[in-house]
Amino acid sequence: MKRIVLFASGSGSNVENIEHYFRENPEVSISCVLSNKRDAKVFERCNRLNLNALCFNKHSFYGSDCVLNILKSLNPDLIVLAGFLWKIPDNLISSYPNKIINIHPALLPKYGGKGMYGMHVHEAVKNNNEAETGITIHFVNENYDEGAIIKQAKVDLNPIDTPEMIAEKVHHLEYEHFPKVIEQVLMGT
Ligand code: GRF
Repeated sequence: MKRIVLFASGSGSNVENIEHYFRENPEVSISCVLSNKRDAKVFERCNRLNLNALCFNKHSFYGSDCVLNILKSLNPDLIVLAGFLWKIPDNLISSYPNKIINIHPALLPKYGGKGMYGMHVHEAVKNNNEAETGITIHFVNENYDEGAIIKQAKVDLNPIDTPEMIAEKVHHLEYEHFPKVIEQVLMGT
């Protein structure tokens, strides 16, 4: 049995899609969803889906080994950041080398780094009149959005696409590719 721990800060539609993908797979379980935001919609989804979920604060994450110790007790084969907005601290990165992956809603190295999250990314893509955008799934290292790329997928943009329409196109790519990539990486662990 392979165990996944998910981190999410927002709506959690990727969490729900990942749960749906692995629901019938007896070889993979989602041990817990961890979030830094106690009013995040992801908690409603976890309630409905009967997923374990925990909320933590800054001190648990950056000022102590609390989250690390929770992770150790969960013993994950893979940690998946699915819309998680805080930078991962070094104690976690060094404890889980090549076992933390992230999804970024653009084609890195473009539109990455500090401040480039959520709608900021799609607005920047729109402002630059990009003809395409996409997703990047990558390993997490100590620098924002700079770990080794595992998979990128692209979608064409139309000049009339609004940032909201771009976000929707990108979400579709995420739903299509993220669970499959998680499965591939898990099989290699
Ligand atoms: C996704 O677009 C993901 O790429 C980004 O945050 C968004 C999360 O969406 N990092 P959701 O919370 O899974 O709906």
